[in-house]
Amino acid sequence: MYEKILYPTDGSECSKKALKHVVEIAKKFNSKVFILHAFPFVPEYIGSPYREKIISQSTLEAEKITKEAAKVLEENNIDYEIEILEGPAHKAILTVADVRKVDLIIMGSRGISALAGALLGSVSQKVATHAKCPVMIVRERESE
Ligand SMILES: Nc1ncnc2c1ncn2[C@@H]1O[C@H](COP(=O)(O)OP(=O)(O)O)[C@@H](O)[C@H]1O
Ligand SMILES: [Mg+2]
Repeated sequence: MYEKILYPTDGSECSKKALKHVVEIAKKFNSKVFILHAFPFVPEYIGSPYREKIISQSTLEAEKITKEAAKVLEENNIDYEIEILEGPAHKAILTVADVRKVDLIIMGSRGISALAGALLGSVSQKVATHAKCPVMIVRERESE
């Protein structure tokens, strides 16, 4: 049923909590997991060489975040692919969900820029609203 799972991560504690659910579901359904990290678009007006420097720094950070998740999947013998995209996170998530035709998105309710009080971050809110497939949103304070 859940052949393909999309796991968007910003490296936050909450998204790490979501990874536990990714592992359990992927093991049960023998799913392939797409690990996705999006970094903000770097405007053209930031000229050379600064623009390139920012992009390569963001790419390195994205690789670090996605590889950390990949390691956990490898340890559990789960098939995966890494996607690193430039642009707004919710757009990247919705695009990859469509292009890869995923059956389920598993993500955190909050991310790294957690504002006290709000139940959902802006990315999880937009994805939950617009995704065409089911979305599992894992709470920050979920008991271990
Ligand atoms: N840049 C990103 N790339 C991939 N996934 C992301 C990104 N930012 C957030 N997410 C996903 O969305 C979840 C909720 O984060 P977000 O809505 O940004 O909350 P906050 O406003 O607290 O940062 C995260 O746990 C993660 O799963
Ligand atoms: Mg965020």
